Amino acid sequence: MKILFLNGPNLNLLGRREREVYGRTTLAEIEAEVRKRAANLRSKIEFRQSNLEGELVSWIQEARGKFDVIVLNAAAYTHTSIALRDAIAAVGIPTIEVHLSNVHARERFRQKSLIAPVCVGQITGFGTNSYILALEAAVNINGG
Ligand code: DQA
Repeated sequence: MKILFLNGPNLNLLGRREREVYGRTTLAEIEAEVRKRAANLRSKIEFRQSNLEGELVSWIQEARGKFDVIVLNAAAYTHTSIALRDAIAAVGIPTIEVHLSNVHARERFRQKSLIAPVCVGQITGFGTNSYILALEAAVNINGG
């Protein structure tokens, strides 16, 4: 099982950014946790971050034939990006939406996800553990 983890804008600042919302864990530390768990689950992961919408779109397109599942924290693009939504729909790879914070308990504009309708499901509000839960969901996506 090959899983592509994609992270959107400002997630490179985790650990320094709005710690009361996102905690003190850096993206590199989240990646390390995910890698450790993935090794136990015998799955291969790739972990990337970009602040650019178009780069995320290209990575989703290029995942066809290379990855079985995409785990996507689209960050602010979750709430704005028709391009990301269309890329997920076009590529046809099961995609899991993930967020560190509970977007439904925050500002109104975060409560709408443009990508949710084309994702298999959404994991939101568990901090670093959201990524681990997404990994487990990805590994079991075809019933385990
Ligand atoms: C986020 C939630 C988004 O609303 C926000 O724009 C982010 C991070 C999260 O992981 O909680 O940058 O995706």
